Amino acid sequence: MADIGIITGAGGGIGRATAERFAADNWSLVLADVDESVMRFAEDMSGRGHRAIGVVADVTTEAGAARVRETLRSVDGRLKFLGLVAGTLGAVGPVETFDMAEWDRIMSVNVRANVLMMKEFIPGLRAAGGGAIVTVSSWYGRSGHAFFAAYCASKAALISLTQSAAAELAADGIRVNSVAPGNVGTRMHFTALAEEAEKRGITAEEMKAIEWAKIPLGRAADPAEMASAIYFLASDQGSYFTGATLDANGGCGFF
Ligand SMILES: NC(=O)c1ccc[n+]([C@@H]2O[C@H](COP(=O)([O-])OP(=O)(O)OC[C@H]3O[C@@H](n4cnc5c(N)ncnc54)[C@H](O)[C@@H]3O)[C@@H](O)[C@H]2O)c1
Repeated sequence: MADIGIITGAGGGIGRATAERFAADNWSLVLADVDESVMRFAEDMSGRGHRAIGVVADVTTEAGAARVRETLRSVDGRLKFLGLVAGTLGAVGPVETFDMAEWDRIMSVNVRANVLMMKEFIPGLRAAGGGAIVTVSSWYGRSGHAFFAAYCASKAALISLTQSAAAELAADGIRVNSVAPGNVGTRMHFTALAEEAEKRGITAEEMKAIEWAKIPLGRAADPAEMASAIYFLASDQGSYFTGATLDANGGCGFF
């Protein structure tokens, strides 16, 4: 019977790379994203002979989670992997003046959606005799950074959620881990660089040089490098990992 994986944020950089990594090992995939481009991506994967089906869903909502569940029903196999990749950087700004609606939105995407998806799919993973959940947190969830309070707090909460779920589900053979990326070369990273460059009145290339110089490995990650970390935690290679957060960050924050 085919192993099925659900991946949220599958229209984004890390989500797509994760889908490619699992498909390379013959998984059947349900690819969810609020952005409609996920449908074209899933069709493209199918066209290349992979088993992938897309679903447009806002995973912060019960209705979105239900859409993913309905899509899963149309796929043969057993659910063995839940990849919770969807996330948002959201607005950046001082705590003192932070817009509370934006705070709630960031928390909703980066924390609430992950709880909702776990609630929805833990029974399926249990019914399959166990499996793996991998969340995608951030090195910004490891400590607080000025002007990124909402994002940092949301990702710290996600690391904690991962640990709680891991402790609850270990006896069911469901391992729950997180990957904490540093800077990754995706839309999220390049948009953030462009916005900061505009504020400082410099070019995006100059901003990239400033930010990448702070990374001990000297560059942002390729999304495929995050997909490898996610795949490792989900696969038998990571069989003794649960409740862990794997720092895949090129050395950010450590030296
Ligand atoms: N790129 C980085 O530098 C970096 C660093 C650390 C952590 N991360 C984390 O990695 C994850 C993936 O980000 P990425 O770099 O691929 O960025 P991305 O912007 O390319 O992808 C994020 C995807 O999540 C989707 N999404 C957002 N809200 C959603 C919702 N409510 N329902 C369904 N889908 C939703 C977006 O549409 C997008 O396709 C995120 O959780 C992000 O916080 C990224």
